[in-house]
Amino acid sequence: ESTLAAAAAQSGRYFGTAIASGRLGDPSYTTIAGREFNSVTAENEMKIDATEPRRGQFDFAAGDRVLNWAVRNGKQVRGHTLAWHSQQPGWMQSLSGGPLRQAMIDHIKGVMTHYKGKIAQWDVVNEAFADGSSGARRDSNLQRTGNDWIEVAFRTARAADPAAKLCYNDYNVENWTWAKTQAMYAMVRDFKQRGVPIDCVGFQAHFNNDSPYNSNFRTTLRNFAALGVDVAITELDVQGAPATTYANVTNDCLAVSRCLGITVWGVRDTDSWRPEHTPLLFNGDGSKKPAYTAVLNAL
Ligand code: XIL
Repeated sequence: ESTLAAAAAQSGRYFGTAIASGRLGDPSYTTIAGREFNSVTAENEMKIDATEPRRGQFDFAAGDRVLNWAVRNGKQVRGHTLAWHSQQPGWMQSLSGGPLRQAMIDHIKGVMTHYKGKIAQWDVVNEAFADGSSGARRDSNLQRTGNDWIEVAFRTARAADPAAKLCYNDYNVENWTWAKTQAMYAMVRDFKQRGVPIDCVGFQAHFNNDSPYNSNFRTTLRNFAALGVDVAITELDVQGAPATTYANVTNDCLAVSRCLGITVWGVRDTDSWRPEHTPLLFNGDGSKKPAYTAVLNAL
């Protein structure tokens, strides 16, 4: 096959990218994105600060630009993200307790109702666990509303759009030996045992010198899938973009039947949130990097 999307489709998977609405006027960007990918994640446009800048007043202008581009170009959409400690609007940052819990519920309902039926997977909750060896939840205003905030978010999400797959998404959870991975695993196992509606786990896969790729990622994907959830690689980028690492990650997903697909976190290195890492599959001039060929050949 000659594109990432077509190659991934051979095994029923997708190959996606993050899209920034502000770049949709750049023909080099849209040419590559339109050709190579068949799944789209809005890089920032469906986050809380973008979609509910004032309490109860939703703004879907930028999110709709990304969604409409994706639909016009025949791509599925991953929704990102509904409940997160980061990129909260000021009004939400200053809430706590019951009012914050209610605001979270209202936000999930408002956004998911607008996009109902159009989103393949939603990252309902993002980055709720702490880094390091504690295995604890991350401290945040949402966490301080009570440990059950995550399951409340998932139950609210299921009711709002029953057709969307509901994902929990996090980073530094690719290495099976890490405490954060084990904590996330225990939560998902508990949710499945108690019937909390969760369908998928997203592994961001931002690999760098501090959290490098480890070959036990495949074990992690397998163990989560064995709990009865789908898995997805949701924000892949790799510092320096070594072709071997990109091939390994691709092969890890292909080895797990419940791995739905791979999303890279941007198109060209110059589009990356970490451009100094040159972590993506295309150079700034739009040319394909060795990592691109490695992924294409692995798919
Ligand atoms: C990043 C975006 O790429 C940046 O443009 C923005 O300034 C900050 O957020 N984990 C996530 C993503 O879930 O939403 C983050 O995206 C990267 C880390």
